[in-house]
Amino acid sequence: MPLLGLGTWKSSPGEVKAAVIAAIEQGYRHIDCAAIYGNEKEIGEALKECFDRGLVKREDLFITSKLWASKSHPELVRSACEKTLADLQLSFMDLYLIHWPFFFSQDTTALPPKPEQALGYDPAQYLAVWREMEKLVDAGLTKHIGTSNASAKKLSELLPQARIQPAANQVESHPYLAQQRLKKFFDENRIVLTAYSPLGSPDRPGVADTDPKPLADPVVKTLAERLGATPAQIVLAFQIKRGAVAIPKSTNPDRIKQNYDSLVVGERLSEADMTALLSLDGKGRLIQGKAFVSSRQPTPQDLWDEDWEKENVSL
Ligand code: A2P
Repeated sequence: MPLLGLGTWKSSPGEVKAAVIAAIEQGYRHIDCAAIYGNEKEIGEALKECFDRGLVKREDLFITSKLWASKSHPELVRSACEKTLADLQLSFMDLYLIHWPFFFSQDTTALPPKPEQALGYDPAQYLAVWREMEKLVDAGLTKHIGTSNASAKKLSELLPQARIQPAANQVESHPYLAQQRLKKFFDENRIVLTAYSPLGSPDRPGVADTDPKPLADPVVKTLAERLGATPAQIVLAFQIKRGAVAIPKSTNPDRIKQNYDSLVVGERLSEADMTALLSLDGKGRLIQGKAFVSSRQPTPQDLWDEDWEKENVSL
């Protein structure tokens, strides 16, 4: 799995096709998608154009997509996967993830849904959906399956029952939320941590001026100046250096290239630099997941099982 991928959350239709082509021209071989991003058809057009131009072959690419919360019902998994494959114009994915461990009712298209449509986490349903994900591998529709936004606690419930183990779990991570305990738990269970919002998602919905900004952090900026890099390259290199996968989103060709070049910057980060970056951990979770708050998980804090993690995963 290439350590750097192009993120496509928040990449608008009308922009994402050019972004994907620019990324592949630049050398990216990993594109992160999801049905809920509403742009998979255009990404499919971009991929087809790249194949038709002979830029890459299908087997050179690593394509991820995700099963949306309102499709996280056992009877809907296969058709949702097939819809994504049709939109992406692919016959298989490399990785298909359950987007959230919290479910919405099937009739929900709104985000956030009405409170009664947010069904929360149910271990039995999570396992039933996982069983269907396993069948997608059997059917050759995806090479690997995984989870997203799953806590160590939820995975500790799923792993002993899984016939096919999750290959990756995608969670928010940047220097202000390094997810060190989660990373340790994943390492012990041979699960790749894919860092979403690795730049702190300055374009995320509901962002406030007062929110923490990892790219503006003095430690990050000082390191960038010393290493002749940009703050974005430092926070991406931070993930790559510790063996996590990063999926920065950009629709700007210069920043797409700049982000790709963080692969080289990673080689310049020393252990002391990594320690300095890890010292920033704890300054903030930026994606609260408020849309998933339900009667089962009544506050955003209830979504992440952080207390369980502290009690059960020692650093
Ligand atoms: P743009 O698409 O105009 O480049 P994340 O991946 O954490 O969700 O962050 C995505 C946001 O960060 C987008 O607003 C994107 O804007 C911006 N961005 C992407 N690359 C860089 C970069 N190298 N430097 C600064 N901002 C960047």
